[in-house]
Amino acid sequence: MEDLTAMPQENPVTAMSWLEDELHSLTVEGLRRSLTAIDDRRPGEICINGKWFSDFSGNDYLGLAQHPDCIRAAAQALQRYGCGSAGSRIVTGGVPPHANLEERLRHFTGAQACLLFPSGYQANVGSIAALCQPQDTIFSDAHNHASIVDGCRLSGAHRRIYPHGRWDILEEWLSEPQNSRRWILTDTVFSMDGSLAPIDHLARLSEEYGAPLLVDEAHAMGVLGPGGRGYCAQLKVRPQVQMGTFSKGLGSHGAFTATSDRVAQWLMNRARAFIYTTALPPAVLGSSIQALSLSTGPVGDNLRTKVLHLAKGLRSQLREAGLEPSGDGTPIVSLPFADPKQATVIQKLLGEAGSLAWAFRPPTVPPGTSRLRISLSAAHRRDQVDDLSEKLIQLIDP
Ligand SMILES: Cc1ncc(COP(=O)(O)O)c(C=O)c1O
Repeated sequence: MEDLTAMPQENPVTAMSWLEDELHSLTVEGLRRSLTAIDDRRPGEICINGKWFSDFSGNDYLGLAQHPDCIRAAAQALQRYGCGSAGSRIVTGGVPPHANLEERLRHFTGAQACLLFPSGYQANVGSIAALCQPQDTIFSDAHNHASIVDGCRLSGAHRRIYPHGRWDILEEWLSEPQNSRRWILTDTVFSMDGSLAPIDHLARLSEEYGAPLLVDEAHAMGVLGPGGRGYCAQLKVRPQVQMGTFSKGLGSHGAFTATSDRVAQWLMNRARAFIYTTALPPAVLGSSIQALSLSTGPVGDNLRTKVLHLAKGLRSQLREAGLEPSGDGTPIVSLPFADPKQATVIQKLLGEAGSLAWAFRPPTVPPGTSRLRISLSAAHRRDQVDDLSEKLIQLIDP
């Protein structure tokens, strides 16, 4: 047996002492993160340290995370197939609900093939790193989600990041003569401010310059488009690769990539985030299947109408008061603060007044663009939203 006393004696804690200085700097800059211990939650509300808040911090846009039908479906799948999937899809980790959900997704998206991933993060990292090759060039919006950024880095492809909203610059770059294969990568709903990418324009650029379009519909799934099919469906655009999550508007967990048969086959063979990980567990699949069928029926239509109506009302109240909420037509409403500390102070004061919205600071957002992110849900009541808007106007005093 190995003699452990012969190992080097350096104290591993002392060896990491540089982290103290780094963490202290984060504290001083107002950028230090910590975890929040949640006691309990119910639709539209959350309990922290024994106190209930109206919860505007999550992404459960339709309020499906606690929908009785989804909970029942999850429980049935759990009873029938057990707690875990026991392996990767590529070995024997699949249970019938995996194939069932992928088949439903094919109909939902109209794509030739859909492949489930354990999370949206993995769907983006896995798909991008498998598809984009080191000799390729990726054009990516500066506000794209971290999982797109990480997928791009992992791919080793040459990256050209166009400033958010500067589609003219993207076009200028695309029009430069190039021999390499090119890709356009974008969120459809930008998660930090709820703004929308001009997907129809990007699809035209994609076609004109022969650069496949890869979209992240994480914040659009369940929320936008007919039956909650996303923003591309709303604009009748068919991207070459469409990523969608169950973890936000559909109130469950996991994600999918909807694409052609050929691309799906490639991902199955090359996407490491698909291959080297355990398949989604049965309970999650049960709730996702149920959420999808609620989303495409009258329940989904009512929930979408409600949440988008609440968001529109909040934006107009804030605008009337002289504030500058971001976005339009999505449930994400952000208020900008150049100073990250100010965003945190407003989060704290709002919390003391009974509402929880989250302050996002660098590195999640670029320096100088901290914000209070308010996300609305069909689980909210009108009076909760009115109360939030009154408090925001009082606290920020435009
Ligand atoms: C735009 C976007 N893409 C991908 C993800 C990752 O999805 P998931 O939380 O399912 O890993 C998120 C989640 O924060 C997101 O906002």
